[in-house]
Amino acid sequence: MSDQKNVFTEMNGSFNGNDAFQKEGADYFSPEEFSKLANARRSVRKFTPEKIPDNVVEACLDLALLAPNSSNLQTWKFYRIKNEEMKKEISYACFSQPAASTAAELIVCVANPSSWKEHCKQMLQTFKSLPIETPKSALLYYKKIAPFVYTVGPLNVLTPFKWVFNNLVGIFKVVPRDPISSFGLLVWSVKSCALACENLMLAFRSYGYDTCPMEGFDACRVKKAMKLNRNETIVMIVGAGKRAEGGLYGPRVRFPREQFIKTL
Ligand SMILES: Cc1cc2nc3c(=O)[nH]c(=O)nc-3n(C[C@H](O)[C@H](O)[C@H](O)COP(=O)(O)O)c2cc1C
Repeated sequence: MSDQKNVFTEMNGSFNGNDAFQKEGADYFSPEEFSKLANARRSVRKFTPEKIPDNVVEACLDLALLAPNSSNLQTWKFYRIKNEEMKKEISYACFSQPAASTAAELIVCVANPSSWKEHCKQMLQTFKSLPIETPKSALLYYKKIAPFVYTVGPLNVLTPFKWVFNNLVGIFKVVPRDPISSFGLLVWSVKSCALACENLMLAFRSYGYDTCPMEGFDACRVKKAMKLNRNETIVMIVGAGKRAEGGLYGPRVRFPREQFIKTL
């Protein structure tokens, strides 16, 4: 295996000039506290009528946006449904499950893979406003590499070419194999959005509220009620509120860890 120089190896630590950012997130964080939070998050299906203060909901949404995401292109959207009529329609489209109908808040979490293009431009603009010099490799990444990797063309016209390119060049070099189609691009975007959903749910829990992620919904009806465009895919709908009595349907169930955690 030879060491290949590429944009990833070159990116390391290459923002120069003012490295105060190196301290970001370096504070000690107690594993016990995190363990408490992760354990305290359960899917709660019944909420009391108590409202969640506006500032709490907004703070949780802000924390969702801190989730790691591919290429930092942030191809997600979080719709907080405040309109009561729309909320009723969405909760009906969630098969009227109590996790939706009793929720104080409904947040529709959306992946919009096609926003990568606009966000590449926005990233380049954002770099200009930073007080530190942007390394050439970062500029190259958003100007050339990301467009190369994420362009699939109308009706996936580039997919066969990308497949051939990856498989030929891949014999000799490390290449990004995915995404090569609009489906791959959707999977790519959904991954990042789902990570943000977990941030959102943990954030609510940290404020003493509970959540239920839902994919039990009629996507066509929800999209219609919200007038979402065809590039927007609902990843999940998160219901949030104060846990009602009987809100937990059962004890936590997980299969044995050996089944899923492997050491290679
Ligand atoms: C993507 C996704 C979709 C889900 N959809 C629903 C749903 O529609 N209705 C529901 O009651 N729970 C739903 N859940 C919650 C799961 O049933 C729950 O996470 C699982 O049973 C584990 O329980 P826990 O979250 O309390 O640990 C969903 C969870 C995820 C991650």
